[in-house]
Amino acid sequence: MHHFQYQNDQMYCEDLPIQQIAQEVGTPFYLYSHATLKRHFNAFYNAFDGVDRLVCYSAKANTNQAILNLFAQLGGGLDIVSGGELYRGLQAGFEPDKIVYSGVGKRVDEIDYALKSGILMFNIESLEELEIINQRASHFNTVAPVAIRVNPDVDPKTHPYISTGLKKNKFGIDIVSALLGYKAARKLDHIEIKGVDCHIGSQITDVQPFKDTLASLKNLIDELREIGISIRYLDMGGGLGITYDDETPPAPDEYAQSIIQSLKGSSLKLILEPGRVIVGNAGILVAQVLYTKIGETKNFVITDVGMNDLMRPALYDAFHAIKPVTQTQDTAIVADIVGPICETSDFMARDRKIARVYRGDLLAVMSAGAYSFTMSSNYCSRPKCAEVMVKGDRFHVIRKRQAVEDLCAGESVPGFLDER
Ligand code: LLP
Repeated sequence: MHHFQYQNDQMYCEDLPIQQIAQEVGTPFYLYSHATLKRHFNAFYNAFDGVDRLVCYSAKANTNQAILNLFAQLGGGLDIVSGGELYRGLQAGFEPDKIVYSGVGKRVDEIDYALKSGILMFNIESLEELEIINQRASHFNTVAPVAIRVNPDVDPKTHPYISTGLKKNKFGIDIVSALLGYKAARKLDHIEIKGVDCHIGSQITDVQPFKDTLASLKNLIDELREIGISIRYLDMGGGLGITYDDETPPAPDEYAQSIIQSLKGSSLKLILEPGRVIVGNAGILVAQVLYTKIGETKNFVITDVGMNDLMRPALYDAFHAIKPVTQTQDTAIVADIVGPICETSDFMARDRKIARVYRGDLLAVMSAGAYSFTMSSNYCSRPKCAEVMVKGDRFHVIRKRQAVEDLCAGESVPGFLDER
């Protein structure tokens, strides 16, 4: 049972009709179900019952303060990839020693900020980065906790743009060089080796790539032990997929079992960095139909959601189910569901079967809790959407819609434009 259901032909989020929220907030807006967010986090966490673990929610999927705050309250840690995400995480109440920091391009100011904050560990992605982090830790007369992000050369069989664990990808350090990296790290005075890390990709719908990755990481950990380097944390990254259309990803329990089985008897502490699986299906995007163009060869439904609001279809040709907020008996049409932006890639769906809709109707773009608001932009000077959270029969605007005045914030016109 999920929390975006029809009651008497009206779609509800938990106990509130979406139509009612739209009337009060205006469209478009992102809408999240508190009960779903909480259930997904707990289901993922509990799937690893009996294992010493830390679930570091992957901030990039959705960084709204209300959502981060909820996961912090549920005992979660945070996976970050920037100083901005560190700031947001600390603001939302995450304990610094539950924060892990990945990313191939950490800047010095970001490294310094993380060192001063006292994060759990840096997931290092190059030997040069290791050197720089050692230097910065030395500068502050402290010791930087690190893991090396290993690139295991495993094919996660997902969209090429979100595959990260293949040798040809920019991420991590291959397993042979990783061993050398650990040997080098051991000699550095301001580095403390804490863990081994990986992240092979996103929207993965099969457990086998995770199993293959774990097997090579375990080998590495054994080799390290033999040379006297002991590892405390094993960070398996994120990547578990969700159902957008007809995908059948493993449930968290199955995913957890595939990992737990081969960890029996080890004293490693497991870190997981799930993003999409927690928030993806806990949110939708509510759009309003502006116009319809019913043609002889092609139908278009033009909505107030543009590719700036939801970039995934334009960027990855991603599928999002689209449902009417009010169900009708109208016969279905096949249409492109598009936005107001002047680009052909500005679509939410193409050749989609959908009930005939009319100006003013509301549409629910499903599975829009992950990588949706966070990837939105102000392209075409479109203010960013509002975000709303529902709990039971109450709702709260967790991010107000941007006003047009916000669009010029920070811009300034130089005096020399007036010079003759
Ligand atoms: N850890 C690291 C180091 C990551 O890079 C990512 C995602 C995660 C964890 C979380 O992965 P998840 O559990 O959400 O699969 N924008 C794309 C997805 C990009 C994922 C990037 N890294 C999309 O909209 O599909």
